[in-house]
Amino acid sequence: MAQARPYYADKGLSAAFYDAVTGADPRLAGDIDIYAGLGATVGSVLELGAGTGRVAFALAALGFSVTGIEIAPAMLAQAETKRAALDPAVAGRVTLRRRDMTALDLKRAFDLVICPYFTLAHVPAGAAWRNTFATAARHLAPGGLAAFHLPLAEVMRLPGPANADLPVMDHVLPGGGRLRLFVRERSFREAVGRLDQLIEYRELDAKGAVRRSTLERLTYYIANPTPLAATAGLVMDRAPVELGGVGEIWVFRKD
Ligand SMILES: C[S@@+](CC[C@H](N)C(=O)[O-])C[C@H]1O[C@@H](n2cnc3c(N)ncnc32)[C@H](O)[C@@H]1O
Repeated sequence: MAQARPYYADKGLSAAFYDAVTGADPRLAGDIDIYAGLGATVGSVLELGAGTGRVAFALAALGFSVTGIEIAPAMLAQAETKRAALDPAVAGRVTLRRRDMTALDLKRAFDLVICPYFTLAHVPAGAAWRNTFATAARHLAPGGLAAFHLPLAEVMRLPGPANADLPVMDHVLPGGGRLRLFVRERSFREAVGRLDQLIEYRELDAKGAVRRSTLERLTYYIANPTPLAATAGLVMDRAPVELGGVGEIWVFRKD
């Protein structure tokens, strides 16, 4: 097996199978409806860490105009492939750019800023979080909302599976192959709120032979977002919205 690489890197299977994995994960169900419900009208949305466009294209199909920024070329490439298969009217409502959410200034305001599926947790919970909250505030008019989906600390603290050789996901792929995910290592460092995981992605063909496998590093950081958001002038708008038993969507308002 190849050496461990970062999640969403070029040639990694976490990027190649992102839509298959998220589509099969019930713990994400309903997130798009929550973001759509935060927009008073079908206005403009800035998505931080847009990935393969899972959320951006769904919001565009509901009528929102979405600008998605994303740091990983492998994820953006998939989003552009998906765009080509969409209704041109929907595709035309989505703009995607390769940018870093911790240092972004598009010099315009949006009706809503969203940072779905643990994207903020991918960067360290200090200056990088403060800078990302500043990005959100910079792109909102006073009264605008910013939503951040964060993992629950108690779930991050859980130990890995007792048997690392049992897949945590076993998904049937089109054509009869399978995608299996294994947690090879998992450790949480309380002092810095950091979860490190080594995940093996293994793709099998219809006969059960391994076609490809990669070992990928997935790191999440967690902290109380409220004081860091406050430094950017963002205040809590409501109690966090629980999602799938593993995370919460925190909604802040620009004062
Ligand atoms: C879990 S995916 C979420 C993708 C999409 N928002 C969704 O909900 O399906 C997290 C994404 O955030 C991106 N990301 C991580 N750090 C980033 C940064 N500093 N700036 C922009 N994107 C970043 C990753 O490359 C990845 O595509």
